[in-house]
Amino acid sequence: AHGSHAHLYPANMVVHLRPTRGNEGKFGMVTFERTDDGVKVMAHLEGMPANSTHGFHVHEFGDCSAPDATSAGSHFNPNETQHGARDAEHRHVGDLGNIETNRSGMAHVEFVDQGLNMRGPHSILGRAVVVHEQADDLTSQPVGNAGARVLCGVIGVAKN
Ligand code: CU
Ligand code: ZN
Repeated sequence: AHGSHAHLYPANMVVHLRPTRGNEGKFGMVTFERTDDGVKVMAHLEGMPANSTHGFHVHEFGDCSAPDATSAGSHFNPNETQHGARDAEHRHVGDLGNIETNRSGMAHVEFVDQGLNMRGPHSILGRAVVVHEQADDLTSQPVGNAGARVLCGVIGVAKN
C-alpha cells in the first residue's frame, strides 16, 4: 500500500457480461481481486442453459461491439504459448477453463489464478471476458473448440 505507484494499479476489476445477438436473457458478472496468492476470480452467470459447460476466457481486445463478439479477438496470449487448461503448464494467460451451470441455468464459481496479471504490460485491464456456447475441451488448438461467444464484457476498474 506504500509502494510509490501502488495507487496506479487497481486492486479490483469488474466485468458486466452482456449477451451477443441471439442470446438475450443471458447475463453475468465477473470480478477480479488482487490477493497475495494470485488473482481471485469470482464469476456469476444467469439465464444460461441448465446443467451445461461453457468455455471462459479473457480475450485480447476490450471490444464487444460485434454482434457475435468476434471484435474481442482471440484468447489473451501475450506469451505466445499454446491453449490449455487453467492449471496446465502451457496455457494462454486468458485461459480460465470452464464454467458449469446448475439446473436453473445459473453458475457461481470462485478460484484463485496464478496466470493473470492485474498490473504491468500483461494486465487484463481493458481486455474482454468471453463466455462460450460450448465447453472448452482444454486441449484443441488454438482455442479449445468452445464455439460461439454468448456473453462478452470489458474489464474495468471496480470500486474498492
Ligand atoms: Cu473465449
Ligand atoms: Zn486459450
